[in-house]
Amino acid sequence: MKKLSMIVIGAGGRGRTYTGFANKYPDMYEVIGVAEPLDVRREYIIKRHPKAAEHAYTHWKDILAVPKFADIAIISTMDRMHMEPALKAIELGYDLLLEKPIAPTPEECKVLVEAAEKKGTRILVCHVLRYTNFFRALKKFIDSGKLGRVMSIVHTEGVGNLHQSHSFVRGNWHNSEESSFMLLQKSCHDLDILQWLIGKECKRVQSFGSLSYFTAANRPEGAPDYCLDGCPKADTCRFHAKTVYLGTAKTWMRNAVCENPEATDEDVLEALKRGRFGRCVFACNNDVVDHQVVNMEFEDDITVTFSMNAFNPGGRDIRIMGTEGELIASMSKPIAYYTPLSTAKTEEINLIESAGDESIAGGHGGGDTGIMFALHDLVAENKASESVCPIRTAYKNHLIAFAAEESRHTGKVVSLDEYESRVK
Ligand SMILES: NC(=O)c1ccc[n+]([C@@H]2O[C@H](COP(=O)([O-])OP(=O)(O)OC[C@H]3O[C@@H](n4cnc5c(N)ncnc54)[C@H](O)[C@@H]3O)[C@@H](O)[C@H]2O)c1
Repeated sequence: MKKLSMIVIGAGGRGRTYTGFANKYPDMYEVIGVAEPLDVRREYIIKRHPKAAEHAYTHWKDILAVPKFADIAIISTMDRMHMEPALKAIELGYDLLLEKPIAPTPEECKVLVEAAEKKGTRILVCHVLRYTNFFRALKKFIDSGKLGRVMSIVHTEGVGNLHQSHSFVRGNWHNSEESSFMLLQKSCHDLDILQWLIGKECKRVQSFGSLSYFTAANRPEGAPDYCLDGCPKADTCRFHAKTVYLGTAKTWMRNAVCENPEATDEDVLEALKRGRFGRCVFACNNDVVDHQVVNMEFEDDITVTFSMNAFNPGGRDIRIMGTEGELIASMSKPIAYYTPLSTAKTEEINLIESAGDESIAGGHGGGDTGIMFALHDLVAENKASESVCPIRTAYKNHLIAFAAEESRHTGKVVSLDEYESRVK
């Protein structure tokens, strides 16, 4: 097996996830360079990948000032810092693992897509859902024809109330001007996966949604700006910083609090006193929606309803309806329910068995692992798995999010062809 070398630009949560793969599969990947301004994060990478010490920098501009010295550049900086390093890495001849969104505006996305196409860059946008057993199995099932002609899909993305409060109220993506709007940031995965499952183009969109719960109007009486300053609701509020970050938080959430992947409870507690994750969730300068729906019309009259919202524990559910049958599945369960319309008798389908790859497990329903396998096939063997999303397709699927957001603001139905023609 060919070992591929990688550099990582941005050693935050995502950068650490992808580089961690080189520790798990050392025959497949090695990490030989890092650009990250925070010492503790840069050192974390060097500790796990000693070869990266030779090319360790504090800014992406410095690592990309060196002529190409690795096979792959991982671009895992924040949303508004994807385009510039990606363009430079493309120019240098790197193949790319590029975090989503490609960029926060359609114009920037287009520039990047055209540059990658012109250079012939092999580039995977991190639409990790495509690489999960769950969605691969659904795709396989649709393509088997058992549902007949797909006519309609209802898909729900439950962001989860704690995840919403962490990422989209207190954290990195709370403000659309600083990062990107919710549908692009969080649900570009879902819009992409729906297009992939259907295999046709989206023609029109309509959307509604707003920020209604995580607002000052719902702030409990007497709640201070920071939870640890003696909030009277400390015992009952499930968003209380101490309850979340020293109790229910997942490791990736906890790590974000201190910017330190190896933080102790004491470090976390200290950071919560005046840090952004210690703020009352009803007193943050967040502006991204906490619930939104999108209606879509695809080619051949296929209709899709998508709902993203914070008011659930988290998870994705889908109902696919065709002329010959219906499939109901939940990403949190290995079993899907198929009902052929001819018998109306429901059958259980084991999704992991039907996708056929037990090694695809871990973060994002196995998607983080699946995409690293696919990246290796693509770069080492020039072999694109069926999950691989061509960059032009990723761009067009990003346009669904941009057009839907326009609809949410204007109240109008937006044609994708017309929207695309306006992107200069
Ligand atoms: N594919 C997915 O499912 C998925 C999930 C979560 C996040 N993301 C995306 O991944 C990206 C990163 O998210 P994250 O959670 O890792 O964020 P993060 O804030 O943890 O990581 C970003 C890192 O970039 C570093 N950085 C800042 N300026 C830099 C510079 N000049 N040069 C190099 N590095 C610099 C920061 O210090 C930070 O460590 C975001 O765009 C996000 O949308 C994707």
